[in-house]
Amino acid sequence: MNCNGVASSIMNSGSEISNGTPGEKMVTRMVDLRSDTVTKPSKAMRAAMASAEVDDDVLGYDPTAFRLETEMARIMGKEAALYVPSGTMGNLISVLVHCNIRGSEVILGDNSHIHIYENGGISTIGGVHPRTVKNNKDGSMDIDLIEAAIRDPRMEICYPTTRLICLENTHANSGGKCLPVDYIDKVGELAKKHGLKLHIDGARIFNASVALGVPVHKLVQAADSVSVCLSKGLGAPVGSVIVGSKVFIAKAKTLRKTLGGGMRQVGILCAAALVAVQENVSKLEGDHKNCKTFAEGLNKIEGLKVDVASVETNIVYFDITEGANITSQELCKSVEEHGILLMPESSSRIRIVLHYQISEQDVQYALSCIKQVVTGVPYANGVK
Ligand SMILES: Cc1ncc(COP(=O)(O)O)c(C=O)c1O
Repeated sequence: MNCNGVASSIMNSGSEISNGTPGEKMVTRMVDLRSDTVTKPSKAMRAAMASAEVDDDVLGYDPTAFRLETEMARIMGKEAALYVPSGTMGNLISVLVHCNIRGSEVILGDNSHIHIYENGGISTIGGVHPRTVKNNKDGSMDIDLIEAAIRDPRMEICYPTTRLICLENTHANSGGKCLPVDYIDKVGELAKKHGLKLHIDGARIFNASVALGVPVHKLVQAADSVSVCLSKGLGAPVGSVIVGSKVFIAKAKTLRKTLGGGMRQVGILCAAALVAVQENVSKLEGDHKNCKTFAEGLNKIEGLKVDVASVETNIVYFDITEGANITSQELCKSVEEHGILLMPESSSRIRIVLHYQISEQDVQYALSCIKQVVTGVPYANGVK
């Protein structure tokens, strides 16, 4: 089923699925906006995977893993890099390397991914104590509040020992907001002043780099470690990379094995990731543009509200206003019938994440369907 009578205009486009009966081809567009983790490997990625040179990476012999790690270390301006299965493991390993003495504490945002969505792994697996500082709407934490949260070593008879500060860039729960380089550098200076390390959860650090117009190595120059997701905006099917000093990465490698993240012929996955890094960074700007268009379109729909000015990268949250007679769950279910997949955040809030496999046409189609579901009136622009 299609909305707005737009079936003919979306026939035979790149993002269609067939759901018709034999003999009568019925197609509908699939627009998956749940996350930037839903991308499918491109033809180039699949070809690279098929021909990847591989060997046992746990023994340190996989040439494609080596190539990816060398390239990522170069791009990020760090001495070394390590491929890990996920962003969650990248953050966990990083925190555990920096906080390898029992009784360690990490300062991190109360709305950060590490604190909220990673199963409390730093505590349950690492025995590391989290000390949260309020995340501002822009994803930052006030520097004076960070400093106030650092434990006084003279009271170590009572207190855990602060060893690490974690930032997140872009900040997912704040709607993909970017932390600017001068802020990160100031947090880095604070960390140094107190003998602490700085880790950045850079799951979407390339989005931040592109949106801010700052080379990614500059954005992380103050960090001792960064975890970078390859399987989000960059579109690789699997994996993240952590970067840091050679000493940090050597320790991280041991921990990766401890956690079961050492993989043998992993070059198959790294080959796709190399294509992602080479081909997809330049596409992020288009995602951000589409995201802004989406936000503006949503904001024009009666019954929906978006803080358009706050959209900086590829994530947009929108609210259903009180007058609208629909919950987010109902909205998501209705648009799903039109092939549009969204992620409800609460009963009145929905999250949308753009990625390179969402075209401008997909954006217009999704807006059209959402408008019809919320108001019963077709979206003015329709589908081009
Ligand atoms: C900001 C941030 N950090 C870390 C992660 C964890 O990545 P993964 O899903 O690969 O474990 C995510 C995942 O969505 C994320 O958004």
